[in-house]
Amino acid sequence: MFTLKIIIASTRPGRKGPAIAAWIQDVVNQHPEFAVELLDLAEINLPFMDEPNHPRLQQYEHEHTKNWSRAIDAADAFIIVTPEYNHGFSAPLKNALDFLAREWAYKPVGLVSYGGIAAGTRAVQLLKPVLTALKLVPLAEAVNIPFFARYLDDQEGFVADETLTRSANDMITELLRWTKALKPMRLA
Ligand SMILES: Cc1cc2nc3c(=O)[nH]c(=O)nc-3n(C[C@H](O)[C@H](O)[C@H](O)COP(=O)(O)O)c2cc1C
Repeated sequence: MFTLKIIIASTRPGRKGPAIAAWIQDVVNQHPEFAVELLDLAEINLPFMDEPNHPRLQQYEHEHTKNWSRAIDAADAFIIVTPEYNHGFSAPLKNALDFLAREWAYKPVGLVSYGGIAAGTRAVQLLKPVLTALKLVPLAEAVNIPFFARYLDDQEGFVADETLTRSANDMITELLRWTKALKPMRLA
C-alpha cells in the first residue's frame, strides 16, 4: 500500500478546488494500492516562507514547517489540484513547495488543473519546472478540466463525465507505476 496525498492549491473563500479534489479522491479510492489523504493548503495555512536556513538542510525552526515536513515526508506520491490564476499557478502552492526540499524528492505527481478555455494548462506548464527543481516527477498524463463550472451541480459538487473519469483513471494508473519505480530510489 502506498500513501498518496492530494494537495488543494487554492485557498480563497468560496474556492472550487475542494469539490474537484473530492472527485479525484473518489476516483483514487477505486485504486486499492493507494491510501489517500487530503492536504488542504487553506487549512494548513502556512505563512510566507519564514525559515532562515535553506530547506535542503532540514534545520527547521518553526512548528508549522516541522508539521509540513512530516506530512510531505510520509507521502509516496501526490496529486496536485490547481486552479489557473493569471495564467500561472497559485501563490500558496509555490510557497508550500518552497518550504521543503528533500521531502519532495523522487516522488511522482499527477496534476489536476481547471479553468476556462485553457483548462488550467498554462498553470501546469509553469508548475512543471518548479516541480522538477525539487526532483518531483510530474507525469505526462494529467487531468485538465476546461470550463470546469459546467461540472458543478446545485450543491457545488463536481460531477465528472466519462472523458474526465477516463483521464483520471489513466493518470492514477500511471501514478502507481511511477510510485513503485521511484520508491527504491528513495531507499538507496
Ligand atoms: C485571481 C484569479 C485569477 C484568475 N485567472 C484565471 C486564468 O488565468 N485562467 C483561467 O482559466 N481562469 C482564471 N480565473 C478563474 C478561475 O478559473 C476560477 O475562479 C476558479 O474557480 C479558481 O479556482 P478556485 O475556485 O479553486 O480558487 C482566475 C480567478 C482568480 C480568482
